Amino acid sequence: MNQAPIPPRTPRFVQLHQSDDGAVRAELARGLLNDPAHLHPKHLYDALGSRLFDAITELPEYYPTRTEAGIFARYAPEIAAQVAPGLTLVDLGAGNCQKAARLFEVLRPARYVAVDISTNFLQATLAHLQRQHPTLDMVGVGLDFSARLALPPLAGAGPRLVFYPGSSIGNFTPLEALAFLRQARELAQGGGLLIGVDLVKPLALLERAYDDALGVTAAFNRNMLLHINRLLGSDFEVSQWRHRALFNAADARIEMHLDALQDVTVRWRGAQRQFRQGQSIHTENSYKYTPAQFEALLREAGFSKLHQWRDAQDWFAVFLACA
Ligand code: AVJ
Repeated sequence: MNQAPIPPRTPRFVQLHQSDDGAVRAELARGLLNDPAHLHPKHLYDALGSRLFDAITELPEYYPTRTEAGIFARYAPEIAAQVAPGLTLVDLGAGNCQKAARLFEVLRPARYVAVDISTNFLQATLAHLQRQHPTLDMVGVGLDFSARLALPPLAGAGPRLVFYPGSSIGNFTPLEALAFLRQARELAQGGGLLIGVDLVKPLALLERAYDDALGVTAAFNRNMLLHINRLLGSDFEVSQWRHRALFNAADARIEMHLDALQDVTVRWRGAQRQFRQGQSIHTENSYKYTPAQFEALLREAGFSKLHQWRDAQDWFAVFLACA
């Protein structure tokens, strides 16, 4: 006899507006009028940007995603042995939710809370994921947690396993990362943190990962200008800007910039900014750590009982810590 199909739940979804459009525009304008100009990397993730990032993770040069996946695949039983079942799994920057979904079976969470700034992308992903996991309680939260990390009541109570894979922690300066980790510890409410961290490695490997031969990372970076045009009402012409990535060894970070290929004037709502040929906009930092540095950061943020797993080449590390 066939079993009656279980009717899939509908993932609940909440959109949190932390700052109004005016505040977003003011922040963008401030960044553009600064010298050197800068834009926050969170603006890389409009619907197309999220898809381009997915494509980046498949590039031969971009090692972090597949290296981290290899660590999770190999050590999932060891990791799961340290995690109580029935927790709420909070996925920060969930994106396509694939990393968390691969851990559902071993971690056995009672609830999955997916958080992402790219709301439409997340909502579509989550609806699809709910069909594959019809009995798991799922909540989507559209939220920019870069300034403050706090969840709405809909996300349920703790204890929680806060999941922050992919080395997105690298977008924060080490000082910001410390503040973020303290908030993650609060959020975990006695649970834990499972986090992926990209490690310092030879310069050539790092720079290739952020300047691939196909130009997908260049498209990802330049697409930010199209997103800014929609957010700010500006008139950036993508063809006037070139992608540049470099490893800043003194600060242990990859930097992405957009360089003006010619003199450019960008206009928006009664304001403008002139760029001379070669002048640039700083669009992303991606900090790299040594295992010892990141361990110290976790302890300083108040975490205890640290475990870590690395790939054979020491390119990437996964840390598990008690809140
Ligand atoms: C999503 C922040 C982890 O820094 O490697 C990939 C973003 N930027 N290629 C990273 C990114 C260019 C990525 N993180």
